[in-house]
Amino acid sequence: MITFNEKTRIFHLTNKSISYYIYLNQEQRLEKLYFGPYLSEISNADAIRKANVDNNSTQFYDDKDHQEKTFLDQFKSNYALLELSSHGVIDKRGAPIILRYKDGSRITEFLYVEHRINQGILPLKDMPHALDHDDAETLEILLKERNHNVYVKYFLTIYKDKDILVKNFEIINHEKEEVQIERAFSMQLDLPCMDYRLVHFSGRWAKERDYKVNDIVDGVQEVTSNYGRSSHEENPFVYLMEKNATMNHGEVIGFNMIYSGNFKWRSFTDYFHNLHITYGINDEDFLWVINPNESFVTPQCVISYSSKGVDKMSQNFHAFIKENLITYPYEKDYKPILFNSWEGCYFDFTTDSIVSYIDDAKKIGSELFVLDDGWFGRRDNDYDGLGDWYVNEKKVDLHRVIEHCHKQNMKFGIWFEPEMVNPLSDYYQNNPHCILKEDNNPLTIARHQFHLDFSNPKVVDDIYEQMVKILDAYEIDYIKWDYNRVVYETYSYAFGKERQGEIYHRLVLGYYSLLSRLIERYPHIMFEGCASGGGRFDLGTLYYCPQIWCSDESDPIQRMFIQYNTSLGYPLSTMGAHANANPITSYQTKAQIALFGTYGYEMNPNRLSEKEMEELSEVAKIYKEYHQSVIENGTLYHISSPNETNFLGLQSVSKDQSTSLFLFMNLLKDGDRYRFVRLQGLDPEAYYWNSYDQQTFKGEYYLKVGMNFSRDWFDEFRCLLIELKRVEN
Ligand code: DGJ
Repeated sequence: MITFNEKTRIFHLTNKSISYYIYLNQEQRLEKLYFGPYLSEISNADAIRKANVDNNSTQFYDDKDHQEKTFLDQFKSNYALLELSSHGVIDKRGAPIILRYKDGSRITEFLYVEHRINQGILPLKDMPHALDHDDAETLEILLKERNHNVYVKYFLTIYKDKDILVKNFEIINHEKEEVQIERAFSMQLDLPCMDYRLVHFSGRWAKERDYKVNDIVDGVQEVTSNYGRSSHEENPFVYLMEKNATMNHGEVIGFNMIYSGNFKWRSFTDYFHNLHITYGINDEDFLWVINPNESFVTPQCVISYSSKGVDKMSQNFHAFIKENLITYPYEKDYKPILFNSWEGCYFDFTTDSIVSYIDDAKKIGSELFVLDDGWFGRRDNDYDGLGDWYVNEKKVDLHRVIEHCHKQNMKFGIWFEPEMVNPLSDYYQNNPHCILKEDNNPLTIARHQFHLDFSNPKVVDDIYEQMVKILDAYEIDYIKWDYNRVVYETYSYAFGKERQGEIYHRLVLGYYSLLSRLIERYPHIMFEGCASGGGRFDLGTLYYCPQIWCSDESDPIQRMFIQYNTSLGYPLSTMGAHANANPITSYQTKAQIALFGTYGYEMNPNRLSEKEMEELSEVAKIYKEYHQSVIENGTLYHISSPNETNFLGLQSVSKDQSTSLFLFMNLLKDGDRYRFVRLQGLDPEAYYWNSYDQQTFKGEYYLKVGMNFSRDWFDEFRCLLIELKRVEN
């Protein structure tokens, strides 16, 4: 999959579907030649390079013999497409790595030393990372800074059967003194053209991942988070689409990071209209010190390539996340239908009320009962309790609740918010420096809570010890891991003043360290991520938690947008989605929408009418029959976008193409119309029965003619969930 031709000095990474070519020039710099659909050879690197170097090289003055000279190979280091731009020299496009040495210099110019080709992907220590199952190769290139003993290892992985690349850097200090890292991005990708649109997903609480699209323009564009988490405000998933690209046509390049903290995706267009993209940990408030013989490893950046439109880019990501990222050992198994107590009773419950919730939850098909916030410490409202992880026995008899649950043949799950503390809690009162704060500065409080200093291993240990006591004493099958505020003051009393630029990243490492220790000790527990809804929906979290609560938005129509947009970058199986009591639509519709996520319930089940119970049970039946093969492990097609049309169309097809579910929803009243909707992913030669008009057609008919909705009347929010099953003709 990876070759290096000594004669032409060209690296070729390919899986016969995509190709990535790099040229090692005579100046020992790595130039990007090509990234796109499979290309069997590049025999003449100059033919591509010349287009970018304008037939001229930049000049330099040689102090030794007082001569103006040109670089070898006509290298024009400010405009050539590169794998790693320099800083402090002529290249002004924005280097991915910026260092400050003890001698005061800030020039970083890395030159090739050697390379090797590794089977598989090299795991990162203490950080989530991409996995391989003998299906990947990694090019590892060692580079040295021209004037300092500082090295960079550049890792570039390609997968055998997925159009996915993974990139990251390791910065190694072999100087005798410390080196400061001012910027440590994970990758650079230079493209020879700027005719793209940028799609990114900004938002806020209860409106996560709102679809935003704008043209790439001259100059700089950035998508960032500086909230200490991947955030509601922007998501680390972004993509570029050629201007004429559609769902199934044209070039689309997706980017994401295996990381849960601050990030910065940045594009810069130069006057040749080359596009220079860098991506990594946000360099705002970042300053990392590496001592002699220490190194800093950047998180991995994942790139998905499609020459066949947006859907293929999404499907690449979906397959990668399911097969090469999520570590939950039961990822491909059937997952129980989840009932969550939060919106039904908030903090207001007793042992008896929870027991009666369990009984009624069972009637609508629930298989896992989750007791949300409110069971611990003095947690009767959100002023107290966080940081005091012991069962509030006056309020709830957790042993009885769990026993009842298990007797009903249901699993039991519980809520934690490990990284936070309330000022009234015993833990905070006894450990005033356990939080992030700078004495003498006003301290921001949000939802009446402070952010624990998870950069401090002692604080992480304390919370670990408390959690372990509960998890050892009670039979718990699932944990919802919440995170309800962002990071403001980042001062840590565990570190000296010269280390404060490391705190944001260290907080993320603390989060990963607690999660991984718990998972190691309790491998059977399924963790679901959450952050005031979907404020930490990212690949770092998914490595540990196979699903993440998508949003606190309870309006199913608004949620449908959130779920649709999320599914452009993340598999349906990762998107926590529940039918709830919001009255905008029927329970049937709410359940159908939730089915295109993890599926579950969140309401007071004692208040459901017979009819509502029936509606939910009907969808639960479909869940049990199809969810694992069609939704969890199937292939997703975005048939119609609610961002651009009045309809939402999502179709998922089982891997063996035998069954499919199609969700079609009308947003605005639009009756009397001919309407055909073409499906995708079916075997054109097979015959399929559909549950809409109960007819059987050949696969090619659904693909070319489509479902005929012409005789239907479409009111607002009319929602259809259509089953398609392969049958013998
Ligand atoms: C925010 C979450 O998004 C909700 O689902 C719920 O768990 C609350 N926190 C509990 O405080």
